[in-house]
Amino acid sequence: MPEKNHYQKSIIRYFESENQLDLFISSKRNENKKNKTIVGTPHPFLKWAGGKRQLISQLDKFIPLNFNKYIEPFVGGGALFFYLLPTNAILIDNNLELINCYRVIKEEVESLILSLEKHKYEQEYYYRIRAMDRNPQIFMNLTDIEKASRTIFLNKSGYNGLYRVNSKGFFNVPFGRHKNPNICDKENLKAVHKILKNIKIIHGSFELCLNYAEKDDFIYLDPPYYPLSDTALFTSYTKQDFGQESQIKLYEVFKELDKKGCQLLLSNSYCDFILDLYRDYRIITLKAKRAINSISSKRGEINEVLIMN
Ligand SMILES: C[S@@+](CC[C@H](N)C(=O)[O-])C[C@H]1O[C@@H](n2cnc3c(N)ncnc32)[C@H](O)[C@@H]1O
Repeated sequence: MPEKNHYQKSIIRYFESENQLDLFISSKRNENKKNKTIVGTPHPFLKWAGGKRQLISQLDKFIPLNFNKYIEPFVGGGALFFYLLPTNAILIDNNLELINCYRVIKEEVESLILSLEKHKYEQEYYYRIRAMDRNPQIFMNLTDIEKASRTIFLNKSGYNGLYRVNSKGFFNVPFGRHKNPNICDKENLKAVHKILKNIKIIHGSFELCLNYAEKDDFIYLDPPYYPLSDTALFTSYTKQDFGQESQIKLYEVFKELDKKGCQLLLSNSYCDFILDLYRDYRIITLKAKRAINSISSKRGEINEVLIMN
């Protein structure tokens, strides 16, 4: 383990005392703002397809300076959440395995750490753990801690840190070649545990945010992108697809949230369908590196949009 720098040492010191938490969060948020990136711990505990980590500095200038609650209806790995570190927030996603990880880290982090420490980074072991969801008898008998431990293990050891399921809902990412994957990042898991203390974590579809959204809340919507013809490769975070109908439903929710007086940012792909759908709103073009593509020559820069009200 490399020597901890001064900043990391100061984080650990703050974390020894519960009532220093607010102080920690505000200092960390300032640090993030200054650096326009996610600094040190806590940071996303999973690598997630479509994660916004590398777009943070471009998103930053459009984030409202003041807001009431923070709501993220497609939280995934939560890059923006970990950048902002709001103390009053609602995180929603319809991927049950993902939401279970957030809940277990929030409520039972010590047991999760013990379970994660037992995993081995070996190909045959990986496929054995991966196969558990093929057998309902085995999968149903796993505890929430075991399920979260399995998901984090597969994410750290699988190819490219992806989460992807097939049409039956079975996890289908192959074993990955990593040097020394940090399957149990204890320090980060404990830091995430602390910041999730007062955060509401909800399993369900994005439209649930309408039940919680109020005037002056800040809502970042980062759905599965509307596929461009040559990038239709990856859309399966869950076995339900997010097609044109879902994009239109999302647009209706966006309009409702706008009417409520919420401050909105929405990411999507740059294409005629999306540009036309949101034509009454402000649309900014951002440049993103395309990380998830099996054809390495196609991992270039692409345009995507940021829509705001
Ligand atoms: C582009 S990713 C979000 C990435 C996230 N911003 C990050 O930084 O990691 C989209 C997320 O939407 C979730 N999702 C897909 N359909 C959904 C739905 N109907 N309601 C809520 N979440 C959904 C997926 O499980 C996935 O985590």
